[in-house]
This record gives sequence, structure tokens and C-alpha cells, in this order.
Amino acid sequence: MTDIRKGLVGVVADETAISKVNPETNSLLYRGYPVQQLADTQPFEAVAHLLWHGELPDDAELAALRAAERAHRALAPEVRAVIDAQPVSAHPMDELRTAVSVLGAAATAGTDNVLEAVGTPEQNVERSVRLFAALPALVAYGQRRRRGLEPVEPRDDLDYPANLLWMTFGEEPHGTVVDALNRSLTLYAEHSFNASTFTARVIASTLSDLYSAVVGAIGALKGPLHGGANEAVMHVFDEIGDASRVGPWLDEALAEKRKIMGFGHRVYKRGDSRVPTMKRALDALVEHYGRPEVAELTETLEREFVDRKGIYPNLDYPSGPAYSLMGFDTVTFTPLFVAARVTGWTAHILEQQGSNALIRPLSEYVGPEERHVPGYTPD
Ligand code: CMC
Repeated sequence: MTDIRKGLVGVVADETAISKVNPETNSLLYRGYPVQQLADTQPFEAVAHLLWHGELPDDAELAALRAAERAHRALAPEVRAVIDAQPVSAHPMDELRTAVSVLGAAATAGTDNVLEAVGTPEQNVERSVRLFAALPALVAYGQRRRRGLEPVEPRDDLDYPANLLWMTFGEEPHGTVVDALNRSLTLYAEHSFNASTFTARVIASTLSDLYSAVVGAIGALKGPLHGGANEAVMHVFDEIGDASRVGPWLDEALAEKRKIMGFGHRVYKRGDSRVPTMKRALDALVEHYGRPEVAELTETLEREFVDRKGIYPNLDYPSGPAYSLMGFDTVTFTPLFVAARVTGWTAHILEQQGSNALIRPLSEYVGPEERHVPGYTPD
């Protein structure tokens, strides 16, 4: 009997030096550093540098990355034109996927020989930084366009998360909000061979280009079993309404055998180590905006669901309400995840390109035995 691992459960597909997920110790390390320590101490740009280069940047390296990132923040007119050609009601993840594709076509224009599509290592580091730099404008415009608003020009006196907030809302962001967003971007940045990262690595393994790999990753992240869960969590909270309704809502949802979004994880079975840090960020936002009912609802649903099912919340659970409090529309939550995870995806693409083997698994055939087309006679 062939040993089939449906969903590749438990399969170790390759080595990586980028992050270590350890469900036994409930820990997640980026290049050896506990993610909680990074989230509490580092600006997001430093985490991006760490993921790409393996070490935290010194002052000069951080300044160089910031300068490169700030130089490429503006929403390119050709990208805006393609976004504007989509229906206003298009999902922002679809817009984002399309926009990255357009950026890829522009960046790789002139490469007529497919053997050169993959680019050089130096080109790919530069493309990673440019894509990272372009994302806040895309996320921000995705939300503004739906509200009938013009894009806001970037500010090069603001760090990555503060500029993202500025470009979305056109207002000076409060320090508490910037801090919460910075933490969430770090927590979302990387998570080893998750579905979207693996998708990116599969595409990179064919020696296709970095943009194609990221476009595929965005498609994988959109699904509610993966990144789309942070949006789906908010629909759950909206459906429940307030803490007093949690019990009856759960009775019904569990009777219907519904999966409750924001709970459970393929790897962590005893809790997601990123959750406590994100919960603290959520608590700070609840306090800042004076919205205790949000904390009451999230805490009540978590307590009751864990009591009944013994399944713990994942990072998407506190992130959804945190992004909502910040003022993001629910459909903008997964694009925010993209703005964070693009760092991890591109680090993995660079790693895959550095020691490539085409990813091409086997399957067990369970269709009809060989048979012949009626009337067929060989020449
Ligand atoms: N609600 C209700 N039951 C659940 C849930 C949930 N959220 N998660 C797992 N279960 C049950 C599931 O029904 C199954 O029960 P049974 O054995 O009786 O059939 C058992 O737990 C095992 O679940 P599974 O789906 O086979 O486990 P998995 O490792 O394939 O699933 C998961 C992991 C994330 C797909 C799943 O927990 C899930 O669908 N969660 C909801 C969506 C979600 O929050 N996704 C975000 C994941 S983490 C962050 C990210 O990747 O973006």
C-alpha cells in the first residue's frame, strides 16, 4: 500500500533556514529569534531584512533598506489603471493578485528568453524589496477605491506600518495603532511551509520568476482555511453580535458541524504561540478606542469554544478584531496579511532558487484501468 499523506500532513518536503515551527515547545523562530521577541522590539523593516539576509540589520543596513523601500512606495499609474478597470466590488485580494501580476510584467519586460525569467540573485533581492515597498499602496488603494476615495501619496518620513496607515486613512496615525500594526506584521511575516509559501516555492522551483510565485501565493492565501480566515473571523463576530449571544450561536454552529474560523491549526494542536502577543496588541487597541465590548466578545467566544472543543485560537482570531478597530474594512484584512507575508514568501523564493530541485510529487492513480476508445485501430 502506498503511504498517502492527504494534505501532505506530516510530510517534510525540504530543509529551510528561514523559520522553525516547533509544536512541542509551542515556539516559532525566525532565523533563530523567537517571533514574540522580534514583535516586541523590532521595526518591521528589520524583520524583513532578517528574513531575507539571515541577520538583523545594523544601523546602516536598516537605513539602506528604509531608503530603498521609501523610494518605491508610490502607486504606479499603470497599476492603478488596471485596478480601476476591475469592478469596484471586486475582492481586494483579487485586485492585489492582479496588481502584482502587472508589476511583474513591467519588472521583467524585455526578458524574451524564458531561461532568463528567473533573474539573478541580486535582481531577486531587489525585486523583493520593491514588491514589499509597493504593497502598502495597493492595500490602501484597495480600501479607498471601495469608499470612492482617491489614493493618498506616501510619506517618506514614516516607517512602513505608519505609512501604510497614512496611505489608507490620510490621517496621522496614533502611536498605539502603529505599534499594534507593526506587531501584527511581524507575527504574520513568516511561517515555514504553510500553503501559500509552499505554493510560492512550487512555482519558483520551475525557474519561473519571483512575481509569478507571489501571484500564486496570494491566490493560496485568499482561502479561508489559510489567510482568508482573518476576514472570516470578522464575519463570525458580526454574526454573533455580542457576548450574550455566544452560547446559543455556538450551540447552533456546532450542531451544524460548522468550522469556526480563527480556531485550529494544522501544526499547533495546543495553541498558537503568536496569539498572546497579538492579544496584547488587541487589548491596547480596545483601551485606545474605548471598545470593551470587542474584548468581551472575543474572550467569551474563545473561552466557550476551547471549553467545548479543546481547539485553540490561531493568529487570525485576534488579528481580525484588531484590524477592524484600526478602521480597516473586513475585506482588507487578508491584503494586510499579504503586506506582511510577502517578506516570508520572497525569502523562501530566494532560498528555493539558491538550492533548487523541481517540486513534482507523485500521485496514486485510482481511476479506470486502461481501456480503449471504441473503434480505434492502430495505423
Ligand atoms: N472549528 C470546528 N472544528 C474544528 C476546527 C474549527 N475551527 N478546526 C479543526 N476542527 C476539528 C475538525 O472538524 C476535525 O474534527 P473531526 O476529527 O471530528 O472530523 C478535527 O478538528 C481536525 O480538523 P482538521 O480540519 O482535519 O485539521 P487540519 O489540521 O486539517 O486543519 C485547519 C487545520 C486550520 C484547516 C482547521 O483547524 C480549520 O479549518 N480552522 C478554521 C480556519 C482557520 O482558522 N484557518 C487559519 C489557520 S492558521 C493561520 C493561517 O494559516 O492563516
